[in-house]
Order: sequence, then structure tokens, then C-alpha cells
Amino acid sequence: MYVKEIYLENFRNYKKQHVCFSKNLNILYGNNAQGKTNMLESIFLGAIGKSFKPVSEKEMIMFGEKFSDIRIDYFSSGRDMYNTVRLFSEKKKAVSVNGVELTKMSELLGKLTVVVFTPEELSLIKDGPFARRRFLDISISQIKPKYLHTLSSYNRVLEQKNKLLKEIKYTPSLEKTLSLWNEQLALYGSKIILYRIEFIKRIMETAAKIHREISKNKEELTVKYKTVDFSAENMSEKNIKEALTQLLEKNYDKEITFAQAVTGPHRDDLIFYINGNNSKVFGSQGQQRTTVLSLKLAQKELFLEETGEEPILLLDDITGELDLSRREYLFSKIKNSQVFITCTDTDRIENTKNAKYFNISDGKVCEK
Ligand SMILES: Nc1ncnc2c1ncn2[C@@H]1O[C@H](COP(=O)(O)OP(=O)(O)O)[C@@H](O)[C@H]1O
Ligand SMILES: [Mg+2]
Repeated sequence: MYVKEIYLENFRNYKKQHVCFSKNLNILYGNNAQGKTNMLESIFLGAIGKSFKPVSEKEMIMFGEKFSDIRIDYFSSGRDMYNTVRLFSEKKKAVSVNGVELTKMSELLGKLTVVVFTPEELSLIKDGPFARRRFLDISISQIKPKYLHTLSSYNRVLEQKNKLLKEIKYTPSLEKTLSLWNEQLALYGSKIILYRIEFIKRIMETAAKIHREISKNKEELTVKYKTVDFSAENMSEKNIKEALTQLLEKNYDKEITFAQAVTGPHRDDLIFYINGNNSKVFGSQGQQRTTVLSLKLAQKELFLEETGEEPILLLDDITGELDLSRREYLFSKIKNSQVFITCTDTDRIENTKNAKYFNISDGKVCEK
């Protein structure tokens, strides 16, 4: 699959912009704060309906405007397709595929799959658990659209439960409805945990192999999916649901006291180990970057397996983050993909055969 063209209107610092891309390598270069990352963000948004940054829809609309339009034309599953995303400052976005407006966001997924590699993502190991859950959620959604649906249901129930917990403080009689929300949380929560564990099992096999290759067999990467208070690895959905139900009962009073839902996969985390040592605590910056690079390349392999097509790759400013040997390794693995890479200095990009160059300056893209 590959992106053919993109049209932007009022997207961040792009007033009106149309760009035709190469199906191989696209090099977006220019000074800082000109719109390089914004261009990658618009591709990601057009492909999967959200930003790779944790930002609100409103933030992506050009300052002072009320809406933003993105149209992305691409080739996937042997045919030409297009998605449109319209962001509004006052209401939720509208999304369409081939001109048909979608009622469920999950219908957008799986058509144009994307793997991103940004300096922010390189701190995935160091960051708080939110970043790691987000990585899982966005990755799984792209290949298992039903996951997004389950996750939305879970988040809706969680929101209701949190609201109720705050109200119970003032109206104690409301407590009798709490167990109904807990039942729903255990139902959706166990499905989410199972999806995540299956995804991790699959991605880690490849990631560990890649990590071994980059570290020249010196490092063995392993991971643990951490659930609050019980170990869900190797459990069936039914058993996870039971464990979650018991835990919700155990924390029942505590949640009322703190007026906050603290039980469930919205609190889970991933812990990475290198040669058995927790990478977040003991890993060097180099080791942590190797791990993220391995994870991302494994994600690419998994997407290829699932869809039968190479996902597109967005590489934001990686030259400052990865040394030459890691960059060379990366490029050797992504030869068959459409790649978008941003940089301030084109001299520092190797392997530029078949590349198309774009200069980006003050929200304007100029093909060179
Ligand atoms: N909603 C917005 N409206 C207008 N301009 C924006 C908006 N969001 C970000 N910008 C501008 O985009 C520029 C940053 O673009 P970015 O793509 O991050 O730059 P870089 O080329 O360094 O990657 C800044 O000048 C910033 O002011
Ligand atoms: Mg940038």
C-alpha cells in the first residue's frame, strides 16, 4: 500500500496544500518549525483518524479557523481509495472512505496501516505507562478494528463509573448501581487484556529477534504485560474476567473512598527487560532506543503478516536519535515500504535511491 496524494486545508500551519508523493522514499526537509512533523501528522490522521501525538482534534485546526480538511488518496488491496477527515472546533470529526461517511471509527482502520518513528516514541520505555498503553491501543486497533470498538465501550463505562463514584460521595444511595458498571468493566476489560496479551506475544517474538540482531547477540529482550494485582499471561478470557471481577470486589470500598476507578486495563503497563533486567531502571539510552527500534520493526512485520501489504512508515527526525549503524539496519529492513522521512539536513540521509525531495518552509511544500 502507499499514499499517492494529500490535500490539506487549515491543518496546523498549512492553509491550503496539495502534495503528490513517491511510492518509495519521500524526504521532507527544511528548517525547524516549518511544518515537517505536521505533514507526517496529517498523513497519520488521514490514515487512522487520530494524531500520533496525544492532542485534541481542535489543536490540529489552524489557529483562528473553525474546521480543517484532510483528504488522502492511496492504493491498497489492489485499488485506488481515499479517506477524508474533517475536524471541527466545536464538534466531533467526520470521516469518510471513498466518499461514504463512517458511523464507526473502527471502519476506517486496516485500510492504510502506518508505523511511526518519532523522537517522542524513542522515549517509550522511559515514559509513564500512558505512552505504552497508547502504543498498544493504536497498534492493535490498526489490525484488529474490533479492538477499538471494545476499547471505546470500556472507556465509556469507565467514564460513567468515575462520574458515579464522585456522585456517591454526596448521594450514598447511588452506590447500588456501582456493581452494574463493574460487571461491564470486567466484561470489556477482560477482552482488552486478552487482545493486548495476544498482540504482545506475536510482536515480541519478532522484536526479540531484531533486538538480538542489532545488539550482535549480546542482548535478550523480553517483556511482561503488567496487570494490577494478578498475572493475566496464559489465562483464558473467562479466567481473566473472573480475576478482574474479584479484584473489582476487593477494591470496592477503596474506589468509593478515593472516588476513582483504579481497577482495570486502563492502569496496566508493559515492562521491558534486557537480559532479565528492567530496561526502564537499568537500561542505557542506547539499549532503550534499540528496543523501540526493534518494536517498531516488529510492528511493521506484524502489519505485513496481517494485511499482506507493507505498511507505510513515518520517520520523524531520526538522524539525531539513531546512530549510523542503527540507521543502516533500519533502512535495510524497510526497502519495500513507502517511507516518509523528515530532516533538517538532507546530507545526513543515506540510501536515497528513488527518493523524491520536498522542501518545507512556513507551511508550504515545494517539490525539488
Ligand atoms: N493549530 C495550528 N495552527 C497554526 N500553526 C500551527 C498549529 N499548530 C502548530 N503550528 C505551527 O507549526 C509549526 C511547527 O510545525 P512542525 O511541523 O512541528 O515543525 P518542524 O518542521 O520543525 O517539524 C510552528 O510554527 C507552529 O506554530
Ligand atoms: Mg519536527
